[in-house]
Amino acid sequence: MTTFRDGLFDGKVAFVAGGTSGINLGIARRFAALGAKVAVCGRDPEKAARAAGEIGTDALGMSADVRDYGAIRGALEQARSDFGPLDFVVAGAAGNFLAPALGMSANAFKTVVDIDLLGTFNTFRACHDLLNTPASLIAITAGQAEQAMALQIHACAAKAGVNQVIRTLAIEWGPDVRVNGISPGPIDGTEGMARLAPNPEMRAAHEHRIPAKRWGEIDEIADAATFLCSSAASYITGTILDVDGGSSVGDAGRMDIAKGLA
Ligand code: HXC
Ligand code: NAP
Repeated sequence: MTTFRDGLFDGKVAFVAGGTSGINLGIARRFAALGAKVAVCGRDPEKAARAAGEIGTDALGMSADVRDYGAIRGALEQARSDFGPLDFVVAGAAGNFLAPALGMSANAFKTVVDIDLLGTFNTFRACHDLLNTPASLIAITAGQAEQAMALQIHACAAKAGVNQVIRTLAIEWGPDVRVNGISPGPIDGTEGMARLAPNPEMRAAHEHRIPAKRWGEIDEIADAATFLCSSAASYITGTILDVDGGSSVGDAGRMDIAKGLA
């Protein structure tokens, strides 16, 4: 783990939507380790309670579906009431599965768009008057926002929308509220990659294309979130930070062809 100053987030309050597992739980855990009071939220109350227990005795585990504005508003209000005004809000809830467009019902497409895109809007819209400014908001997006990918039409459309939510709110809510995104590459040990690369062959194919030649670690996403919420990022808003080993720059698999020519 990269070292940030102990107590960097002492006195801060963080709310992480989708923070009950995976990448977002890693961010929540890091914020708590640096001194913040942290609330995490997902649909499953038992999973939320387990996540809060793992983060620490002070953490709050809550249940709300980000597709339901009233429910996520209620969870944010609860965090505000228990911990005080919110300094950091992460919108990270997402759903995904591999399916071709012709194998996807209208409701299947809508389900992912509603969780990822509407859920990000709801989380940010509902938190605004509960913030302690200057505040930092982070949405977790993905490379599919910019690069179309087969079997991912729902996630591509949803995350492209998330990127524009980030940029629009950075304009509307500045200067007191900074709004940024993190776009992770394939991250080891996550539900997302268990779904998108469910066998060793698919994993190897992914790795081959990444300039860094490996999947990322949850801690590397937590590093980026810590940076974006720290004063070191005080002049950064409306940015989408790719933490993807260079995947978004280009396909490193092409190097094999280039080597053959050189
Ligand atoms: C086709 C599918 C499907 C599949 C579900 N559906 N799975 N269609 N192929 N594999 C359809 C259903 O048939 C239904 O349509 C509609 O989707 C809604 O399904 P429900 O099960 O009712 O939805 P819900 O209970 O809301 O669950 C949402 C979910 C589920 C997305 C389907 O998988 C979930 O809860 N996921 C959360 C965890 C997760 O996905 N984590 C990974 C995030 S990672 P019909 O027409 O039958 O009603 C990630 C990676 C990003 O985002 C990018 C990496 C590079
Ligand atoms: P994960 O472990 O499945 O985490 C998803 C979280 O969202 C869980 O806490 C889940 O809890 C919650 N959630 C799902 N649907 C929800 C809903 N409708 N309302 C409220 N909470 C909901 O996923 P992950 O793989 O770590 O991915 C985390 C984030 O990173 C996502 O935004 C994903 O798109 C992004 N990302 C991941 C990768 C990767 O390599 N994994 C790459 C790029 C981007 P419940 O199930 O209890 O609701």
